[in-house]
Amino acid sequence: MAALEGKVALVTGAGRGLGRACARIFAREGARVVVVDLRPEGGEETVQLIKDAGGEAIAVGADVSQPAQVEAMVRAAVETYGGLDCAINNAVYFYGRHPLADIPDEDWNRALAVNYTGVFLCMKHEIRAMLERGGGAIVNVGSGNEHSSKPGLSWYLSAKQAIYGLTKVAALDYGGQGIRVNAIGPGSMWTPALRQTAEQNPHHVEQLEALTPLRRLAEPEEVAEAAIWLCTDKASYVLGHTLVADGGAVLG
Ligand SMILES: NC(=O)c1ccc[n+]([C@@H]2O[C@H](COP(=O)([O-])OP(=O)(O)OC[C@H]3O[C@@H](n4cnc5c(N)ncnc54)[C@H](O)[C@@H]3O)[C@@H](O)[C@H]2O)c1
Repeated sequence: MAALEGKVALVTGAGRGLGRACARIFAREGARVVVVDLRPEGGEETVQLIKDAGGEAIAVGADVSQPAQVEAMVRAAVETYGGLDCAINNAVYFYGRHPLADIPDEDWNRALAVNYTGVFLCMKHEIRAMLERGGGAIVNVGSGNEHSSKPGLSWYLSAKQAIYGLTKVAALDYGGQGIRVNAIGPGSMWTPALRQTAEQNPHHVEQLEALTPLRRLAEPEEVAEAAIWLCTDKASYVLGHTLVADGGAVLG
C-alpha cells in the first residue's frame, strides 16, 4: 500500500518548483492533495499533472500572508476531502540580493509577511484542522541549515532560520496531541528561478556546484522525497527536526 493512502495533504507554493514536486509525490503516495498557490495557473497545472498520473487534487488560490485566505485554504481541504492530515509550508517570496541598509521597509515587510508570518498563519490553521482529526504532520521549508549565511539575503535567511525555531516550539506545543512538526532545509535546487539565473549567469551555478560535496545541484524531487518521508508513519518518532537535504553543502 502507498505510504499515505487515504490521507489529505496540503502544499503551499505548489504551482511550480519544490512545492509542485511535493504535491506530485504526495499524490503518488496515495494522498488527496490541496495545491495552494498565489498564481492560480501554476496550481491548475500541478493539479492537471496529478490527475494525468491518476491522482486526486484540487487547486486553491491563496496568498499565505493573508489570514482570511489561509483560513479559507484549510477550509477548502476540510470541505472537499473531510479533513487535513499533512501539510508542507513551502511558499516563498524571493526578492533578490540587497545589502541590508538598501532594503525599503515595504519590501522587508512583504518578504517577512510571506516567508515568516505566512508559515505561522498556515501552521495555525493547519494545526486547528489536525486537532479535529486527532493528529497530523507538518513540514516547514527552510533553507540550508540553521547557520547558513549568504551576502544580501538578510530578508530571506532571517525568516528561514526563524522558521526552524517556530518548528521546534510548535513541535513541543503539539507533539503530545499527535501532531509532528518538522522542517526541511534544502540546498540549491534546479527550480525555475535557478534555471533563469543559470541562463543569465552560468558561473553562479558552477560556484554553487563547487560548494556542494556531491558536485551537483538537486532536482526538486530529491528534496521533496525527504519532505514527504517526514509526513509518513516511517518518520513516526521524528519531531522538531530539521532534515537538511543539501548534497553535503553544510559540511564544507
Ligand atoms: N530553489 C532553491 O535552490 C532553494 C534553496 C533553498 C531553499 N529553497 C526553498 O524551497 C522552497 C521552494 O522554492 P522554489 O525554488 O521551488 O520556489 P519557486 O519560486 O519556484 O516557487 C514558489 C511558489 O510559491 C508561490 N508563492 C509566492 N508567494 C506566495 C504567496 N504569498 N502565497 C502563496 N504562494 C506563493 C509562487 O507563485 C511559486 O509557485 C522555498 O521555501 C525556498 O525558500 C529553495
